[in-house]
Amino acid sequence: MHDLPAPIRPQIADMPGSRIRQVSEGAFHRPGLVPLWFGESDRATPQFICDAASRAMREGHTFYTPNRGIPELRQTIATYLTGLGRRAIDVERVNVTASGVSAIMMIMEAIVDPGDNVVLVTPVWPNCSDAVEAMGGEARRVALVPTDAGWTLDLDRLFAAVDARTRGILVNTPGNPTGWMARGEDLRAILDFCRAKRIWLIADEVYERLVYDRAVSPSPLDVAGPDDPVISINSFSKAWCMTGWRLGWMIAPPALGDTLGKINEFNMSGATTFVQHGGIAAIREGEPFVAEIVAQYGRARDMVIQRLRSLPRVRMPMPEAAFYAFFQVDGIHDSLALARRIVNEAGVGLAPGIAFGPEGEGWLRLCFAASLPKLGDALDRLAKQLA
Ligand SMILES: Cc1ncc(COP(=O)(O)O)c(C=O)c1O
Repeated sequence: MHDLPAPIRPQIADMPGSRIRQVSEGAFHRPGLVPLWFGESDRATPQFICDAASRAMREGHTFYTPNRGIPELRQTIATYLTGLGRRAIDVERVNVTASGVSAIMMIMEAIVDPGDNVVLVTPVWPNCSDAVEAMGGEARRVALVPTDAGWTLDLDRLFAAVDARTRGILVNTPGNPTGWMARGEDLRAILDFCRAKRIWLIADEVYERLVYDRAVSPSPLDVAGPDDPVISINSFSKAWCMTGWRLGWMIAPPALGDTLGKINEFNMSGATTFVQHGGIAAIREGEPFVAEIVAQYGRARDMVIQRLRSLPRVRMPMPEAAFYAFFQVDGIHDSLALARRIVNEAGVGLAPGIAFGPEGEGWLRLCFAASLPKLGDALDRLAKQLA
C-alpha cells in the first residue's frame, strides 16, 4: 500500500475512536446478548412517522431543500417549542440539521479556531468534546459532583474555567451519561455570565422530553431572548425513536441564520427531504407516543435504580432524566476492561465510563430504554457478575 499523499490532520488522526464501539465490536451479533450500550430505544420508529416519510417520497419530495430546512418543518418546530411553555420561538431562529451530532459539529465549525477553547460540563457524551478538538480547540472539562441524590454543578468552578480564548460553555442537559438535569436558576446564571463575557451558551437538549417529574426540562430558551448568545441543539432521535433517520435542529439568533445555512450547505446541503416530512408528522402527531415511551422508561428507571442500588459494590446517583443509569463499581479502575468482561462473561452490553472522559473511569452506563423483561434479564446477569 502507498503512503497517503498528505498527512491527516493530527486533530483527527490522533483522536481515539469510540470506546463504546471498542466494547461492542465483535460482540454485536452474539446469541443471547442484551445490548444496553448505545443511547437508543429498542423500539422502532412509530408507523405514522414512517408512513408520512414514505408518502412524501412517493409524492415526489425527493429534491434538494433549502439549507435551513423546509419551511413547514421549521414552522412546526417553532410552534412546538413555543407550545412547550418556553418563551415564544420565531421561525427565523430555527435551523433544521441532519442530526443532533451534525448540529454540534456545525457550531464548532462556526466558532472554534485553533487555540480557542470551549468549557464543557462533564462527564459528557464524547462527541461534544470531540467536535471541539476536531477544530483544533481545547475541550475544557468541569466535572459534576456525584451525590446519592443526584449530580451537582459548581458554578464557581464552571466560570473559573473560562478565559480570554473561551468561545462558549456547552451544557448537555438532561445529560448523557449522568441523567443530570440543570436547574433553571443555574441556566439563568450561566446565561448572565455568557452575556457578560460575550461567549456562547450551547445547550444540548436532545433529552429534554425524557423527564419523569415534569413535561420538559429547564432550558436557557425559557429565559433567553432572540438575540441572546444561546444555541440550543435538539434531535428527533430520542423522543420519537428516530436515531437512524438523522434529523435534528438548532435554535440560534436570527443573525446567525445565514452562517448556519452556509455551513449546512458545505456539510449536508440540507437534511434528507422526505425525512424532514417524517419530522413534521413526528411533532404534529407524536405526543401520545412520547407520553407512552416516557411512562415506559419511567417504570424501567425505577426498576433499574432499585436493582442496581441493591448491589453492594455499586454506587449510583439518582438519574433525574434521560434514559441512562450511570453507576460506579467499587474497586474498578479500568471500565473498558470491565465492560468487555461483562459482555464476554454475562452477555450484557454496557458502555464503559471512560468513554465519557477521565471523570467516568470506574463507572459504567446502562441504557434502560428497553422492555422490562429484557432489563430484568440483564440485571440478573449483572448481579452475578458484580457480586
Ligand atoms: C447528548 C447527546 N447529544 C446529541 C446526540 C445526538 O443525537 P443524533 O442522533 O441526533 O445525532 C446524542 C446521541 O446519543 C447525545 O447523547
